[in-house]
Amino acid sequence: MQALILDQQDDKTVASIQHIDESQLPQGGVTVDIDWSSLNYKDALAITGKGKIIRNFPMVPGIDFAGTVHSSEDPRFHTGERVILTGWGVGENHWGGLAQRARVSGDWLVAQPAGLDGRQAMILGTAGFTAMLCVMALDDAGIRPEDGEIVVTGASGGVGSTAVALLHALGYQVVAVSGRESTHDYLRALGASRIIGRDAFAETRPLEKQVWAGAVDTVGDKVLAKVLAQMNYGGCVAACGLAGGFGLPTTVMPFILRNVRLQGVDSVMTPPARRAEAWRRLADLIPASFYQQAATEIELAQAPEYAQRIINNQVQGRTLVKLA
Ligand SMILES: NC(=O)c1ccc[n+]([C@@H]2O[C@H](COP(=O)([O-])OP(=O)(O)OC[C@H]3O[C@@H](n4cnc5c(N)ncnc54)[C@H](OP(=O)(O)O)[C@@H]3O)[C@@H](O)[C@H]2O)c1
Repeated sequence: MQALILDQQDDKTVASIQHIDESQLPQGGVTVDIDWSSLNYKDALAITGKGKIIRNFPMVPGIDFAGTVHSSEDPRFHTGERVILTGWGVGENHWGGLAQRARVSGDWLVAQPAGLDGRQAMILGTAGFTAMLCVMALDDAGIRPEDGEIVVTGASGGVGSTAVALLHALGYQVVAVSGRESTHDYLRALGASRIIGRDAFAETRPLEKQVWAGAVDTVGDKVLAKVLAQMNYGGCVAACGLAGGFGLPTTVMPFILRNVRLQGVDSVMTPPARRAEAWRRLADLIPASFYQQAATEIELAQAPEYAQRIINNQVQGRTLVKLA
């Protein structure tokens, strides 16, 4: 089987395609033939070595995959069953999805929901799953379509673009924040009613005019600070990302004067029941057109090149890796 192997030479991460034997795979109850994986921002950080994602080498990266059970010692899974995996540290500290086969714990797998094939599941991938968790967080906070506009930052990225499509499908008015002029047609096609340039989010005051009923933030730092300052009374921000930095230069004002809620969203350790619900809802809500416009398909050997493009912010939407 072929795998993308990350190793370290002189403190630098080196990526290469290698033939490995199944006996080299790590311990786990279920062996999966991988059909599709994807490149997420975290994968890009790991493959390029730009982020300290991986501490034990050699490592197969790939934080998500969709595939078919090859063999299973876990009574919950049977040979031939279609499964999806995202998170749980796979591709970070357990060999991941950028290989033709993986061996993992059955606790980490979700049965592929009806209405979704493996390719579609990985067009969504960790990014789409995280977007769904963010939308569920706004729903849990009681934010309804009639409450007002929802702003999505880093809107042309994997999480952002899926959040735009999901919110639009649920009847919300969606406003996209994007740093790239070239993405505007794409964002409108996904359902954004307005698009604001990222430059408008560079500076902020502790409180500004109230604009947003809800927000999905994938950027962090000054952009998130501005979003918080512009939230309506009682609004909720689902914050999941740091594409613009991990800082948060804000004040307590939005929280103590406007009752704003900042809801963190983590996809890695999401409990199994919420995972299954999120995948079911994705299968129901995402329109067929999304899968045509939102993905670039690559071979395993192209993963290092595309990881660098993601770091350079030269990729729009999702990057799908074909393994079968
Ligand atoms: N919490 C979790 O479990 C979880 C799960 C998945 C992802 N994430 C995080 O969520 C973020 C987005 O992930 P993704 O997969 O959607 O990544 P992505 O596809 O690379 O998209 C990130 C988007 O952010 C914007 N951006 C890029 N560089 C920026 C900068 N320097 N300042 C401001 N905006 C910038 C760009 O959108 P525009 O060009 O449209 O502005 C870009 O398309 C990442 O930080 C990722 O680590 C977290």
